[in-house]
Amino acid sequence: MSDHELRVSKIRDGTVIDHVEGGQALNVLAILGIDGSEGFGVSVGMNVPSDRLGRKDIVKVEERELSQSEVDVLSLIAPEATINIVRDFEVVEKNRVTRPDSVTGVLSCPNRNCITNAGEPVETRFDVVADGVRCDYCSTILRADIADHIDV
Ligand code: CTP
Ligand code: ZN
Repeated sequence: MSDHELRVSKIRDGTVIDHVEGGQALNVLAILGIDGSEGFGVSVGMNVPSDRLGRKDIVKVEERELSQSEVDVLSLIAPEATINIVRDFEVVEKNRVTRPDSVTGVLSCPNRNCITNAGEPVETRFDVVADGVRCDYCSTILRADIADHIDV
């Protein structure tokens, strides 16, 4: 997209999560635990035209970088996303997210009878499978509602 079509302003310092699947922007904010009360700038573009995806969402978070576990979970709902680190208006680092083989300690299991919900000192662990993530302990599969089960 050329600059005169830019929908969301450029940022000075922070992180741009680009090429997010249309409709997932609010889930991205949920994964990052951002609700606006933090005080830093957050810009969200939804259904922005994209050559690669047709339509995409984009999230810009000022003065904040992402942890690896946040990126791992993001990759589950936005497998095409690029994470751009911006410093002094320039993109200084650009990474495609990669789907991890598993995520440990970041998602809660929706199955009440799962050992991970029994008050035992057991850390959750989900294997990443084609259609979502699967609890290592009870095999429950989380699909579209991954963002509702984030524990970080
Ligand atoms: N961006 C921003 N503020 C800046 C610099 C870049 O918000 N100061 C945003 C751009 O709007 C874009 C993303 O960060 O959405 C990546 O910027 P850039 O690498 O310059 O754009 P492209 O080359 O189009 O990226 P890609 O090749 O990943 O599509
Ligand atoms: Zn379970």
